[in-house]
Amino acid sequence: MAIKTVGVLGCGLMGSGIAQVCAGAGYRTIVREVDEAVLKKGIARIEKFLSDGVARGKVTADAKTSTLGNLTGTTTIEDLKDCDLVIEAIVESVEAKTDTFAALDAIVGDSTIYCSNTSSLCITELAAKTKRPDRFAGLHFFNPVPLMKLVEVIRALTTSDETYQAVFAFAQSLGKEPITAPDKPGFIVNRLLVPYLLDAIRSYEHGLGTVEDIDKGMKLGTGYPMGPFTLLDFVGLDTTYYIANIMFDEYREPAYAPPPLLKRMVLAGRLGRKSGQGFYKYDK
Ligand SMILES: NC(=O)c1ccc[n+]([C@@H]2O[C@H](COP(=O)([O-])OP(=O)(O)OC[C@H]3O[C@@H](n4cnc5c(N)ncnc54)[C@H](O)[C@@H]3O)[C@@H](O)[C@H]2O)c1
Repeated sequence: MAIKTVGVLGCGLMGSGIAQVCAGAGYRTIVREVDEAVLKKGIARIEKFLSDGVARGKVTADAKTSTLGNLTGTTTIEDLKDCDLVIEAIVESVEAKTDTFAALDAIVGDSTIYCSNTSSLCITELAAKTKRPDRFAGLHFFNPVPLMKLVEVIRALTTSDETYQAVFAFAQSLGKEPITAPDKPGFIVNRLLVPYLLDAIRSYEHGLGTVEDIDKGMKLGTGYPMGPFTLLDFVGLDTTYYIANIMFDEYREPAYAPPPLLKRMVLAGRLGRKSGQGFYKYDK
């Protein structure tokens, strides 16, 4: 399975980063968005990231030119017909993802591999709804994609050995450090991280300390780059609440149950950095 041409579905926060690293690794990359305006915004995000990198001496001018040279944007799904691998990074909805893969099934060749960057949906379910459940895997990148080394490779119940190995090797070819994660909510990283974040909120509700002291304690006492409340504000409280609910639905364990304060902060619109207020206040 030689991968030369990569399709990326979605040029939002994650899709633009994924398209950038694929093009940067030398793959001919075609990124598809729903309309021209969103596509333009996504491509502009890639160009800005590369230009800032050149200005700071982190990216060479040649690397910027070759990355952009390998990249094509489109709003036409048929333009993905020659792709050897398609990575989906569209909205987190089973219906939207299933419809898009169904449209793709009618266009691409039999050997094309599909990957989903979903954070919370079941890879086996997505795979089962395509015509190629054996050529389907999860490929979970971390934000910001060009900077974060880790990628989780998730095998659906139906993923063939050949597909799994091809996807794992592909992740390595992007300069990433892949790990193999199970097709269970949270995969590996969120399975461990989310209960920790929820526990921090519960502890705060129970008077363990101030937000600032808990953050300072975990940062300086463990060497984590930031405390749990700073991280929660970065990730978004709505996103954490959504993932916690999915994990609780599956495992039915109290560790995954969203604490009352988290729910109320989401209802009040205090979503973290993106809304200007979460556990901390931010200048918009
Ligand atoms: N945000 C994160 O930190 C993060 C991390 C890992 C994985 N993910 C996953 O990545 C996926 C995308 O998340 P995001 O944060 O980039 O969202 P986003 O909202 O920034 O981007 C999604 C993009 O998909 C586009 N889109 C919707 N339907 C489409 C279609 N049919 N074809 C092509 N494009 C379509 C939208 O216009 C939008 O630009 C989700 O599945 C999410 O769970 C997100």
